[in-house]
Formats: sequence, C-alpha cells, structure tokens
Amino acid sequence: MSLTWKAARSSGLHGRFSVPGDKSISHRAIIFGALAEGRTQVSGFLEGEDTRATARIFGQLGVRIDTPDAQSRIIHGVGLHGLQANSAPLDCGNAGTGMRLLTGLLCAQTFDSVLIGDASLSQRPMARVIGKLEAMGARISAREGNYAPLHVHGGQRLKPVEIDTGVASAQVKSALLLAAMYAEGESLITEPRPTRDYTEAMLQSLGWPISYSPGRIRIHGGGRLQAGEIRIPGDISSAAFLITAALLIPDSDITLVNIGVNPRRTGLLQALRMMGGRIELFNEREQGGEPVADVRVRHSALKAIDLPEELVPDMIDECPIFFVAAALSDGITHARGLAELRVKESDRIASMVAGLRAMGAVVEETPDTVTITGGRLHGAEIQSHHDHRIAMSFAVAGQCASGETVLRDCDNVATSFPGFVDLAQSAGMILE
Ligand code: S3P
Repeated sequence: MSLTWKAARSSGLHGRFSVPGDKSISHRAIIFGALAEGRTQVSGFLEGEDTRATARIFGQLGVRIDTPDAQSRIIHGVGLHGLQANSAPLDCGNAGTGMRLLTGLLCAQTFDSVLIGDASLSQRPMARVIGKLEAMGARISAREGNYAPLHVHGGQRLKPVEIDTGVASAQVKSALLLAAMYAEGESLITEPRPTRDYTEAMLQSLGWPISYSPGRIRIHGGGRLQAGEIRIPGDISSAAFLITAALLIPDSDITLVNIGVNPRRTGLLQALRMMGGRIELFNEREQGGEPVADVRVRHSALKAIDLPEELVPDMIDECPIFFVAAALSDGITHARGLAELRVKESDRIASMVAGLRAMGAVVEETPDTVTITGGRLHGAEIQSHHDHRIAMSFAVAGQCASGETVLRDCDNVATSFPGFVDLAQSAGMILE
C-alpha cells in the first residue's frame, strides 16, 4: 500500500490534546503481562500496528488477551513457563522492538519459534542481539547471520552473564534481560550509554529481583512476576511532532496532556530549549512509577546549536524532527554520534538529508554526523521510505514551507501514531 499526504503552510497550532500511548511501554506491558501470574490490566495501550503485532504473537503463544475497549487490554498471564509452542511464523510487522525483545524471550523457551517481519524489519540488523544471546547459550539462526526470518531454537540451558550491550540500545539490553530471567543465577548487564529503562522499571514493579542504575543492571534468574495494573502515558516520541510544529509555526500555543517524561526520553525537549524553544512542563506527577507531565509549547525563534552527543540516546527517535527544527533555525546546527539512525525503520540520516535538500535546505552528512544550515524551506515531493517518523517529520516541515509538500509512502504512520492526520488537522496543521 502506498499512501500520499499533502501538506501546506499552517497559520498556527492551538488547543489541548493527548497523543496515543507510549510504544515502548505498550510492547513491554504485553510481554510482561503475559509472563506474569494472573490478570494484568493495561490502560493507555497504543493501538498501533507494531504493538498490536506483539499482542497477536502472544495470542499465538497461548496467552489470552482481552480488549474490553480501545486502549485497554486484560492479559491473562501464564507465568514464566506457560507459553505454548506455535509452529506458524510469528509476525512482528515493522517492529524492531517486538522482534528483538521476543528473540531474547523465545531463546529461553523449551520450544522452537520463527520470527518474521515486513520488508523494512527484514533488513534491520539482528546480529546485535543474536551474538549477545549466544554468549548466554542461546541458539538462533538468521538469514546471513544478521536478518529475519530468525529461527529461535528452544530447549537451551541459558547461563548468567556479565556483558556489555556494546551499542546504546534499549532493545538489545531488554532482549538480554528477558533471557537473563531464565538463566540460573545473577547477570550483570551494562551499556555504553544509558538508554530507556522501561524494562527494568516494569520488572521491578512486578516484583522481579532486579536492581539498576543508569547503564548498569543486576538481574536474577528464576523469579516470579506478579500481575498488576499498568497505566501507559502518552508517547513523547509522538508528541515530539506537535511540540516541534508549535515551536516553528508562528502564533502557535498548544498543550499536550499526560505525556511520559522519563529522563531517558526527553533529550529533544532539552535540545529545543537550548535552541530557545518555549516549552513548559506542568502538572508533573508519577503514574505507575513513570514521570508524566502536561507540556505547553509556544512559537519561538530558534537558534542553531551544537547538539551535545550525550543527548542523542535520549532523543534517538526524535532526531528526524530535530533536523527539521535545525533546518528552520538561525545558524548552523551540528549533530554527531548519530550512527544508530542508519539502522532504524529507514536510514534516517539518508532519508532526512534527501528530503531536506529537496526542500531547499543546505545539509551535509558523514556516516555519523549531520550539519544543517538553517534557512527557508519550499514545498517539494518527498519520499518517506515507508518510515513513520520520516513521514511525520516532513508533514511538520511542510507546515513551514512555501507551496505544497507532497509526501509519498506514509502508510506506516499507523505503526506508532494512529490518528496522526486527524489530530494534526484539529491542532491547525494543513495536511490531508
Ligand atoms: C526502543 C528502543 C530504541 C528506539 C525504538 C524503541 C525500545 O531502539 O529507537 O523506537 O522500545 O526499546 P534501539 O534499542 O535500537 O536504540
């Protein structure tokens, strides 16, 4: 399927909105709810294609998951050893999180499984999880050693490890944590830079023996997970498009309510504030152990920055929309430490550089850096490469460009942000 959007200049965003639930937490809610003993009630679940794919897979593995209403799930957990074999392939769709976390979980089961994904996911590197899991005793075969389909061979005895993830990746870390739950003894997992800690937090809140500080986790195998309630806040990665749009479009003033503001996710807010963005957090509170806030954003004149490299893991999914902000700021923005962007749903450096150049921006890239000279943008025809965050980034760029912007291949936006076009329109974006 190929979906085309058209965007044009907006005269301002206004109103109070909520965005769909956090994608990372939604995947984990399904996984840990399934492994818990008893009934886990989930609210704020992301009704996206990625997270629904994960839920469907657990259905295939014998877990009953009810949908009492949209954004809610009741998961009838089967316990750590209650999953059942399924000889049919388990389809993760577009979701790297689904596939990498499930690899960690399934390699510890007594049965074999096959994980498959869509064309994009089938090109994304899996050796980063396979190699580390093999060090624990797992057996996984992949196409060319690196790509889906993944044949995960069960029946292995996993041993605890002391291991570094090697790459700043919450997916790799989480795959190792899932496997470590089944190993006999204590594992120590470290990261080169701290990444989102939702897996650790959820394990702890469901009663698993785990202790952690940023970038360093000790976990015991062989515990039990108690079922509980999981309340999922709005996804800051989805809010990011509206936040950046409101900063860039003159006369805007919006408030986004109930947004997850875990410090491992708020790098974009820090970067935009450094650029002069007027972003205020209100009503800061804790919900299910996660910091949550309402975010007010007003139009601001933005200045270029040198993006501190240590912020990159905390805004890894927001780099594309950050590049749009840079292209419309005063001065030259430098960003480095971006290599991971090349292995996302598309090569996000290449996708953004090509699109911004088509809109008239001056942009330079190296394998892991981007330099953007701020200026004006004009409408153009843009290829989204079936990447949800590229499509939404250029939908925002189109609001600030002269003429019409035509966006090709926007079909995958529903993986993370169902209802984006309707919400964007009601806020004042010109998008159809
Ligand atoms: C995610 C981790 C990040 C992020 C992705 C979600 C997660 O991926 O880009 O959207 O839920 O753990 P990496 O671990 O590959 O950096």
